[in-house]
Amino acid sequence: MSTIMSFQVALNFEDGITRFIECRPDETVAEASYKARINIPLDCRDGACGTCKSLCESGSYDGGDYIDEALTEDEAALGHCLPCQMTPHSDLVLRIPSSSAAAKTGAATHTATVVDIKRHSDTTVEFTLAADDREALGFLPGQYVNVAVPGTGQTRSYSFSSGPGQRHLSFLVRIVEGGTMSRYLTERAQVGDRLEFTGPMGSFYLRALTRPALLLAGGTGLAPLLSMLEQLAQQPPGHPVHLLYGVTTDQDLVHLDTLRDYADVIPGFTFDHCVADPNSTARNRGFVTGLMDSGTLHDGDADVHLCGPPAMVEAVRAHIASLGVSPASFHYEKFTPAVVRETAEAA
Ligand code: FES
Repeated sequence: MSTIMSFQVALNFEDGITRFIECRPDETVAEASYKARINIPLDCRDGACGTCKSLCESGSYDGGDYIDEALTEDEAALGHCLPCQMTPHSDLVLRIPSSSAAAKTGAATHTATVVDIKRHSDTTVEFTLAADDREALGFLPGQYVNVAVPGTGQTRSYSFSSGPGQRHLSFLVRIVEGGTMSRYLTERAQVGDRLEFTGPMGSFYLRALTRPALLLAGGTGLAPLLSMLEQLAQQPPGHPVHLLYGVTTDQDLVHLDTLRDYADVIPGFTFDHCVADPNSTARNRGFVTGLMDSGTLHDGDADVHLCGPPAMVEAVRAHIASLGVSPASFHYEKFTPAVVRETAEAA
């Protein structure tokens, strides 16, 4: 008996929800979506109308047959594609021009068991989950889920700090006084607890690297970048990747050993860190902007990924503008404790 290998296609909807489907190399993305009961926008199904036109952000494919009215050469050169015609040559990441609700789908709910709770310091706790359906849970490095905090009826958003290929799922939490998740983790959480989460979500994920990358983390904003590094450890980037990690106090510094380990295994990966507290023992005291010059940004030939609090995002933006450099792309995720995430990108 022969089996045909299939590829994983991430369908990212306009509302930030991501669904993953399996797509064989001899079927179109639209056919595979239909089998998965996901109704991506379709009309002619023949490469004539352009209704299904999407943007492919990662991966290679055969675009299939279509007419210029549906997809122009210029659009195709920019990565636009027609799911009703395209067949995959690799895993793909597609941006679908509809909401997940319009496609009659939504964020998937998963159940999991707490398998580890690690208190890095008074300010930072990491928890690790074993999902009941790990095989069915796909995510892109950088994405987050909404975790139902046990016993509270409330949810909080956390980015995966583990990579998509790892068995267990880890999350970094900044401990805030009175915070819903903070209280759960510091007062009640036990290994063996059961909980639910929904996702994955978010458009702050690692795109295929076509040039050098600068990764910027503020505090527990390091989590999604750790997930990206885990992916890069599996698929060496082919371009330099530099990470700058800024925190408020020495207590907030976590995973420096992990970063050193990645520097050993990811070709071209380097990092530095800084602490804002003037009493810190760190070599660099201050903010990440103090470690950024036009060289760090490769004079603009760099993709920037930043996850941190809103003030950091604004400070980095202003600093880059003051250097007179325009990075090729700027993806960021702002977070504040207990507040819905805001994800965006600026070319
Ligand atoms: Fe008409 Fe794809 S549905 S071009």
